[in-house]
Amino acid sequence: MSGNSNLSIIDRLAGGAEVTREEWRVLLTSLSPKEQLLLHERARGVAVSNFGQGIYVRALLEISSYCRNNCFYCGLRCSNSSAQRYRLTKEEILDCCCEADKLGFNTFVLQGGEDPKQDDAWVADVVAAIRTAYTDKAITLSLGERGEEGYRMLKMAGADRYLLRHETRADEHYSQLHPSTMSGERRRNCLRTLKSLGYQTGSGMMIGSPHQTVDNIVDDFIFLEELQPQMIGVGPFVPASNTPFEHYAAGTVEQTILVVSLLRLRFPHALLPATTALSTIHPQGMERAVLAGANVVMPNVSPMNVRSKYSIYNNKMNSGTQSAQQLALLEARLNAIGYHIDFGRGDYNEHK
Ligand code: 5AD
Ligand code: SF4
Repeated sequence: MSGNSNLSIIDRLAGGAEVTREEWRVLLTSLSPKEQLLLHERARGVAVSNFGQGIYVRALLEISSYCRNNCFYCGLRCSNSSAQRYRLTKEEILDCCCEADKLGFNTFVLQGGEDPKQDDAWVADVVAAIRTAYTDKAITLSLGERGEEGYRMLKMAGADRYLLRHETRADEHYSQLHPSTMSGERRRNCLRTLKSLGYQTGSGMMIGSPHQTVDNIVDDFIFLEELQPQMIGVGPFVPASNTPFEHYAAGTVEQTILVVSLLRLRFPHALLPATTALSTIHPQGMERAVLAGANVVMPNVSPMNVRSKYSIYNNKMNSGTQSAQQLALLEARLNAIGYHIDFGRGDYNEHK
């Protein structure tokens, strides 16, 4: 394909046109360095026209490192006996929310493994307590697969948003990343349920995960077009010690921000985080993602003594731009590239 036709695909994508499978493949594999720069520029132009130069911040609480699942890529998988396990109490979670509130956050994200002790009733009680104390904050949950009744109960208790990555749309690839007890179809059904219950729903996938092909990423794009999530989280795969994939190479910053920019053009109003994984593999990962069209950062507000225990992959960042206590540093780094922190709730808004 000639450079000119690559640019015309980017133009059509930016103009809201559907692109074909083959065109997605071309965009993912055949852009010259110059064309990639142009793509990032277009994508950040779209982000700036929809969100301005403000970057939303969400306070991330990692509430349990126990998980019943055994995903091959994750350091918290149940068969990793070297993982350090902890679960926060309701009181500790409320303390973290109090801290996040004082720091200026208007969104709390409760994230954790699928911990059987934190069942629907327990989480609903915690969410209700947060909702009572902070009537105007957005409450986001990222607590894995649950039944429809559970999701409904959590919504009734006051949760507004739910993050659950589909991980990969292709069933064959899904089965290369997960044990046979897990199912991509069940995951996608959870996402559809979440949307139908009125959650602002986030999905997403890792980039550069073992056995991932270009076609897998195209399948992910097509699935996301169908799901129309409000948020899409993409970060590089990062190897985790004591997992089946500990010796696989990490995804790259270039491939990840390429996907971020393509998503920005296809989903102009979506909330796209500059992920912790990207900051972990590259010192400028956060800036690179923002300049490619990302518009959310999720600094960690978990108690300091548990932060290193939530080790889904090696060397996971939890300081600097990834720490809620260092917002001045985040602000300075955003200022240096022409952006600033936006403390708003950052609800999905198509008409902004
Ligand atoms: N590298 C990058 N991301 C990972 N996740 C889990 N393990 C890894 C890893 N090794 C991501 C998954 C999951 C989320 C909790 O973190 O996409 O949905
Ligand atoms: Fe559990 Fe999530 Fe890790 Fe899978 S990725 S083992 S579900 S914490």
